[in-house]
Amino acid sequence: MPIISRRTLLKGSAAVAASFSLGAGLAARNGIAAPTPVLVKAQFTKARLTTDSITKKVMTYGLGDGMATGVPPVLRMKKGEPFAARLLNALDEPTTIHWHGMRIVNSMDGVPEMTQPYVYPGDGFDYAFTPPDAGTFWYHPHCNTLTQMGRGLTGMIVVENPDDPVFDTEIVLNLRDWRLGKGGEFLAPFKPRDAARGGTYGTVRTANWQQEPMHQAPAGGLVRIRLAATDVTRIYTLGIEGAAAMVVALDGNPVEAPFPLERLDFGPGQRVELVVRMPDDEGTIVRLGNFRGSNPFTIASITATGQSLKRDIRDVRPLPANPIAEADLSTAERIPLDFTATAEHAPSPSICGTIGYTFWAINKVPWPGDTADPVAPLSDLKLGKSYILQMRNRTPHAHPIHLHGMTFRILKSNTRTILPPPTDTILLQPDEQAELGLVADNPGDWLLHCHIIEHQKTGMTGYFRVA
Ligand code: C2O
Ligand code: CU
Repeated sequence: MPIISRRTLLKGSAAVAASFSLGAGLAARNGIAAPTPVLVKAQFTKARLTTDSITKKVMTYGLGDGMATGVPPVLRMKKGEPFAARLLNALDEPTTIHWHGMRIVNSMDGVPEMTQPYVYPGDGFDYAFTPPDAGTFWYHPHCNTLTQMGRGLTGMIVVENPDDPVFDTEIVLNLRDWRLGKGGEFLAPFKPRDAARGGTYGTVRTANWQQEPMHQAPAGGLVRIRLAATDVTRIYTLGIEGAAAMVVALDGNPVEAPFPLERLDFGPGQRVELVVRMPDDEGTIVRLGNFRGSNPFTIASITATGQSLKRDIRDVRPLPANPIAEADLSTAERIPLDFTATAEHAPSPSICGTIGYTFWAINKVPWPGDTADPVAPLSDLKLGKSYILQMRNRTPHAHPIHLHGMTFRILKSNTRTILPPPTDTILLQPDEQAELGLVADNPGDWLLHCHIIEHQKTGMTGYFRVA
């Protein structure tokens, strides 16, 4: 991957201020009263990701102008209140920030070429928007993502709702793997053979950049746990041992009726919110685990501390719903979307990197990469109109298909009996056929892609144009 720099590193506040004016201008044009932006600096760091090695050239985000040392900060926002962040790029390649799952204005969506210019090393970009929904979201670059996300650039977002119930404590867990060799060095981010199948797995599994971290929570208390699968490949099957837990939200939206956690699949891009009732006895350990495949592992544990608060899990009520429009099925137009494997077409060169292969396609068209001249939209959607996306997974692999800027509801599927709340990501199971209802209520060009990043980068990407 060559180092690309449009100009030499900008020094001095005048130059930086000049480079920020574009984003701020966009924000102003969209009528957002931007508060003072939080400075989010994309940068290199070193990290201890295994017990006996230090990994160099890790990428992270830090708040403010200092050096960041670990996992990207949890960004906290408030539903309905303006938020602003100034991205500063201290990496050696272009980057952007995408606010995964957030229904915000198109110019803030972070897709280079499509919604904003590249942010070159030393440059910045002002993001400003008002989150319409409360819940758990996350942020990551949308440029050279297999490398940038693979090396660390995935962070959590909590959008608070003043109407939410209060819990005894809250734990936020950013789940991801790392592809590291024995000495802690980064391995090649993928193997072509695996990219053409389920994707290439990491070698070190972490939550908040720690292997099997141990948290604490009040004995007998109700703990809100927010998890996001920010890994580039891994699909989790979440379970809990040692306590009862209710699933209260999925992918940033409350479930209508909280249900007990048994085994729950969630793939790259997706989020789960649980309320766990901690055991009464101090020192008792609760484990969250991944039960997918033949080698289950512990994601994180929580130790009960102090005297029991004696809460009752039956007091867990549905969280207040987000203002998501329901599709009008009587007028909705159907859009077929077929997800297939392909061997045709070479990817185009891109400033945001290509991994050099084409393996996948949507409606037979493999995405050529982030270029100034993309393929035609999958479909032109009329602003305000309802649509039914008819998705067919014609492959033997699962694909977490993510739509930017809008939220859809899974209406039916040949593989599921329980339908989740509205979502931005559907974990399409092998050979699944699903119908999704959507109101095209956000104007702009919005990407639709598999969130297994190797699939995204080797063709399984397209976009809708809403106007
Ligand atoms: Cu999580 Cu195109 O994004
Ligand atoms: Cu995929």
